[in-house]
Amino acid sequence: MSNANGTSLLRLGVILLMAGVISLSVVFFWFSLSNNCPSPVFRPDRYSQIIADKSSRPLANKAEGKPLVLLWVWPQDYRFEFSDCKRFFNIDNCQLTDDRSLYNDADDVIVYHRNISKDLSNLPPSPRPPFQRWIWLHLESPTNTKIIPGLENLFNLTLSYRQDADIPVRMRLITSKEPNKDFVIPKKDKLVCWIVSNNNSTTGVDRRNDFFKEFSKYIQVTLFGKAYARFLNYTDYYPTLASCKFYLALENSVHKDYFMEKINGPLAAGTVPVVLGPPRRNYENYYPAESFIHVDDFPDERSLAMYLLQLDRDENAYHQYFNWRKHLTPSPHLILQTQEFILAICTACDHVARHREYKEVHDLYDWYFR
Ligand SMILES: *[C@@H]1O[C@H](CO)[C@@H](O)[C@H](O)[C@H]1NC(C)=O
Ligand SMILES: *[C@@H]1O[C@H](CO)[C@@H](O)[C@H](O)[C@H]1NC(C)=O
Ligand SMILES: *[C@@H]1O[C@H](CO)[C@@H](O)[C@H](O)[C@H]1NC(C)=O
Ligand SMILES: *[C@@H]1O[C@H](CO)[C@@H](O)[C@H](O)[C@H]1NC(C)=O
Ligand SMILES: *[C@@H]1O[C@H](CO)[C@@H](O)[C@H](O)[C@H]1NC(C)=O
Repeated sequence: MSNANGTSLLRLGVILLMAGVISLSVVFFWFSLSNNCPSPVFRPDRYSQIIADKSSRPLANKAEGKPLVLLWVWPQDYRFEFSDCKRFFNIDNCQLTDDRSLYNDADDVIVYHRNISKDLSNLPPSPRPPFQRWIWLHLESPTNTKIIPGLENLFNLTLSYRQDADIPVRMRLITSKEPNKDFVIPKKDKLVCWIVSNNNSTTGVDRRNDFFKEFSKYIQVTLFGKAYARFLNYTDYYPTLASCKFYLALENSVHKDYFMEKINGPLAAGTVPVVLGPPRRNYENYYPAESFIHVDDFPDERSLAMYLLQLDRDENAYHQYFNWRKHLTPSPHLILQTQEFILAICTACDHVARHREYKEVHDLYDWYFR
């Protein structure tokens, strides 16, 4: 995957190009278990601003150099080059390592929740150096989170999709003063699309399945993904999304702030997301009200379907859903499953380089499940 050193011009072109350039493995779009925002793609220039806005303090002491951040395990064994932080997000203000022999020197240690064993035997050693902070990395929703006893008061920072985490992870829309004149709504040859891979009811998918069963009685939906035995090569992800008028962004479980790539993908591709998740107000913390359609805007699935059919016939009304693009720019996220944690880890790197404050996390699960 190469860098997009493109201007904000021809954004979609860039997206398509990126998608095309990406190499050749298979993609299993498991838009599913994780909230996981397989992270964003390629707006290095932009992304550094995104992160900077929350944490605009200068380095506490530049002379001391970059903090050393130890990744204790590779989450799900999805490895990547640490230089990807620079490559994708223009982040290189910490020194990332997976070399445990540097433990005593590490300023921060990232520990991935799902890889902690029940007996805690694979945690980093204690006592930890007095200056060292442990970062709890977890991207699943509460519905899909196992409680491992003993972590309640162990960490210093939380790293999560939640906005009230110490280090929130998310692709944000970027504002621009100059109107973006280059955006063109991509050509459409499908009405509603849905990529779905996870259909395991233990992960909370019943609600979206119920929704879909009813909804699809009234309107045609083009399906992709593992759950439908219709794999979508990841190189086709953005082009396919772009070719649909609407995209079903249905979360597996409903939690505050728990929406990431499912809505980001269609917004970045030039498609109107139809979201099922937490209330509209929560989405509006991140996305303009008129950029998406919320299933709760309608009394039932049928009226939603009727509304989409009406928009399909009314170009002008449909186009209103793209007015926001004049002054806001989305960034495509990274789409390979193995890239799922890159954004989170890079975001942590950037955060700890700017924030060296003392911090303790108490009652981790009270916070997480509240
Ligand atoms: C995915 O797309 C790339 C590029 O078009 C192609 O070379 C590769 O063989 C495809 N992979 C699969 C599994 O179809
Ligand atoms: C982390 O968990 C994944 C998935 O359960 C597993 O495949 C991997 O081997 C684990 N890695 C470590 C270092 O325990
Ligand atoms: C569904 O998830 C549960 C819990 O993770 C797992 O035990 C089960 O094997 C999964 N079922 C399928 C069909 O993948
Ligand atoms: C998912 O599971 C539900 C219930 O088991 C089933 O009705 C539905 O057809 C499944 N969907 C897919 C895509 O397999
Ligand atoms: C990190 O958190 C632990 C557990 O609460 C605490 O004992 C330690 O003093 C904290 N260290 C730093 C540097 O924040």
